[in-house]
Amino acid sequence: QVAACALADASYSYTSTLSKPKPRTLKQVVFSAETVNAELRDALAHTQALVAGIEVAKEWANRPANHATPSLLANAAKAIAKGPAFKCEVMGPKEVTKLGMGAFLAVARGAAEPLRFIVMRYSGAPAAQAPVVLVGKGITFDTGGISIKPAAEMDEMKYDMSGAASVLGVFKALGELKPAINVVGLIPATENMPDGQAVKPGDVVTSMSGQTIEILNTDAEGRLVLCDALTYAERFKPRAVIDIATLTGACVIALGGVRSGLFSSDDALAQALQLAGDASGDACWRMPLDEDYAEGLKSRYADVANVAGRQAGSVTAAKFLQRFASRYPWAHLDIAGTAWRSGAAKGATGRPVGLLLAYLLAQAGPAAAKAASNRRR
Ligand code: BES
Ligand code: MN
Ligand code: ZN
Repeated sequence: QVAACALADASYSYTSTLSKPKPRTLKQVVFSAETVNAELRDALAHTQALVAGIEVAKEWANRPANHATPSLLANAAKAIAKGPAFKCEVMGPKEVTKLGMGAFLAVARGAAEPLRFIVMRYSGAPAAQAPVVLVGKGITFDTGGISIKPAAEMDEMKYDMSGAASVLGVFKALGELKPAINVVGLIPATENMPDGQAVKPGDVVTSMSGQTIEILNTDAEGRLVLCDALTYAERFKPRAVIDIATLTGACVIALGGVRSGLFSSDDALAQALQLAGDASGDACWRMPLDEDYAEGLKSRYADVANVAGRQAGSVTAAKFLQRFASRYPWAHLDIAGTAWRSGAAKGATGRPVGLLLAYLLAQAGPAAAKAASNRRR
């Protein structure tokens, strides 16, 4: 798996918006082994599905924002969620308004591109089995809104839908492996733009959960789209909910590009994710969630503010999300440092598809994995 993933990564090249794309030159890799058994065949199938998933995630994260709008992401989700085990539903502003997602709608106010709320379902197990829900941040471009970002490197904010791209990548891999588990993918997708209609610092909005939020900084938009998706996740009676987001610059400072930030209210879930990360070479590191970190989120004008002070920014962001994830075991992956590389080698990494797939396959268990591999034969 390590060798195949390294070869795939090194031979990958982005092509979709080049007039004269350079196609991939590496066409085939042959592995030789003394004995070819079922275990080896399964490892190979897993790796092929993993590489396909990673490349879907890279493709969508790399695409410029004008080639990866919320509507285009929704179309991609529909194309990936094809086949009898899949369902995909796409909602627009009307349905999201009806659901009462006031926080998500507030972020989308400034955008001319219409928002999309994407619901993907993979059913590999009986319906009675509680699903794992993956929630991917889908900000297709983050200008910061009225709290606008500086111009330098702002182009990199096209990657702000890398969490969503990782959900698409996982679903791609599920379609190839067909493991015996149920998975739901939720993607709140919108641009974050400044505009005459845009939400303003100090505005108070009501989230789907009923909690009111004082939006003190419109650049802390990821947590606003995620909180409503986390409330929506309750209806699936999930066994676990994992959100994946390029959430904070503070996480880049804390952990760099080596490990993603892991936050969880559930020790068993945290341990399973940490193990999956180490096993797949797509590692994460657990960060704290002490209640004292929530102090700065207090607001005079709403139940909660969307930002705290400058200290421990990735933790206070997670504390905000935790308020909306009290009804199920929950984990949050801050991939701001790991989803893409800057500088000369600029590009999406496809992380954390490897971590998530390893976690899901471990959840399916050895028995379920075996049944899936028999079905494939
Ligand atoms: N998408 C950014 C986080 C980000 C910044 C990822 C830089 C990768 C590199 C997020 O929406 C954001 O702007 N967060 C703010 C939060 C702050 C206003 C509390 C940040 O990190 O500066
Ligand atoms: Mn932002
Ligand atoms: Zn953002």
